[in-house]
Amino acid sequence: MDAALIAQALADFLGLPVDQIQARLERPPRQDWGDVSYPCFELAKRWRRSPQDIAAELAATLPSGTWTASAAGGYLNFAWHREKVLPGELRRALQKGVALPQTGTGKTVVLEFGSPNVAKPISMGNLFPTIIGHALSRMYQALGWKVIGINHLGDWGSQFGKVLAAYHRWGQEEEVRGDPVNALYRLYVHFHAEAPRDPGLGREAQAWLQRLEGGDLEAHRLWRWFVEASTDAFLSTYARLGVTFDHVWGESFYKDRIPDVVQQLRSDRLLETSQGAQVVRVGDDIPPCIIVKSDGTSIYAARDVAAAIYRYERFGFDQMIYVVGAEQTLHFTQVFRTLKRMGYPWADNCHHVGFGLIRLEGRKMSSRRGDVVLLEDVLDEAVRRVAAIIDGKRPRLKDKARIAEVVGVGAVVFHGLKNQRMRDLEFNWAEVLSFEGETGPYVQYTQARIHSLMEKAQFQPQQFFQIPEPWGPEHPVTTLEWELWSALSGYENTVVQATVKNEPFLVARRLLDISQSFNGLYNNQRILSDDINTRIKLLALSDHTGQVLKHGLNLLGIEAPDTM
Ligand code: ARG
Repeated sequence: MDAALIAQALADFLGLPVDQIQARLERPPRQDWGDVSYPCFELAKRWRRSPQDIAAELAATLPSGTWTASAAGGYLNFAWHREKVLPGELRRALQKGVALPQTGTGKTVVLEFGSPNVAKPISMGNLFPTIIGHALSRMYQALGWKVIGINHLGDWGSQFGKVLAAYHRWGQEEEVRGDPVNALYRLYVHFHAEAPRDPGLGREAQAWLQRLEGGDLEAHRLWRWFVEASTDAFLSTYARLGVTFDHVWGESFYKDRIPDVVQQLRSDRLLETSQGAQVVRVGDDIPPCIIVKSDGTSIYAARDVAAAIYRYERFGFDQMIYVVGAEQTLHFTQVFRTLKRMGYPWADNCHHVGFGLIRLEGRKMSSRRGDVVLLEDVLDEAVRRVAAIIDGKRPRLKDKARIAEVVGVGAVVFHGLKNQRMRDLEFNWAEVLSFEGETGPYVQYTQARIHSLMEKAQFQPQQFFQIPEPWGPEHPVTTLEWELWSALSGYENTVVQATVKNEPFLVARRLLDISQSFNGLYNNQRILSDDINTRIKLLALSDHTGQVLKHGLNLLGIEAPDTM
């Protein structure tokens, strides 16, 4: 059901550009008005006539197609001839499967995501940058883009001065060897607890930072050890989430390029001294971008400027996306404007994709205070709870442990992706895990239900191609069938829109819509009907539904088990 057909007919008739019409098409404000609606208010202004008049006239005069046009209020509404449209579309869907437009062919996107700080465990605070980025990487890839995923580890900068100072004061080598991430994290938290009482600590941290940046051997040896141990520890969490990167290039990777950046800024006369620091002015509306601190140590923004230039030289990207919390919006504006002032036109193709905060049952987390919740613990808890549900409902399910893992992890990921990314996320278990609500398990369960239906019926798509008239005057398309088909047929476009807006939640919502429509049909019409015609066409619809759900879960980075 390609609304483009309607847009084209209308454009031809009105002599207006087709994309202008298409952009105006919407879902009718009332369901009984039809499937597609064209609001006539803009034409009304232009033609100085009432929108009601225009809608009525168009409905009467527009050449007919595989739809019926009618007018209601100022809307021109189109209702597809369901019995004519659905069979052909479903046949095509069964033949081609999910076919996304390859709009990204030949284009490269550098996608930076994950990017945790090392010497700290991966916490719930890392959930968003990891799963949003992962979903986006799959979505771009599915549309034909070449995706370069980069994990920009926070492995350099002032927090290392603190960790080194703390290790020097209180650290035990065996303890760090045994459980590096947690031991280092305890040291970091201890540092922040002690610092207000002990001004010497701050000076020590600064001295360690200078030693580290100056290439001091001891500082370097410890730093390298801390970074490697933490990176190893991250891998198991990434593996559970199915997340991989093309490059793990931490901030330290770019440190040797900073002198060149500073040099270039200086010779372009962009660098100014402000309160002892070297800064680049980036407009009157925001503070300048600090490049070198007053003590001569480099800074976060400088590493970002160097990283962007390096990545452009290396990949010549068409887009670069940073999946980083919304609290860093100012930082990225400063960095992008600095690049722009340096004369890089591609600075306009750099985008910060932000997101909100995560609250656990009402509590905000702070990693400095040490009250973080580890992502690994949340995943474990989800899996434990799912295992308990399975034990209650299907004690003899094969492969229970693996399915509990896939469903538990999937539940957490889906929960993190089902709302607009800028919205803060409340995390409470009842909402994450319900098999009936708007959850990952609900979508997975629907897919698994379809899978077993297909197994049981031994359905083959050819069977559908052989029935001459699946729908027709004798067997009209039911409301439930039509609702399901409407939800399914919008899937491809949803993926395109979601990628343009960098909003995986649109895909998640679409999957919920499809699941709800399917379950509505499943509960109200007998799919394995005795009437062969009915049976085959409903199986065909179900088959495609299962394919779309699997495809969509996969785009979100969630596995779709075949039984659960
Ligand atoms: N490691 C940083 C943090 O946890 C995020 C890095 C964001 N990426 C960047 N290119 N600055 O806050």
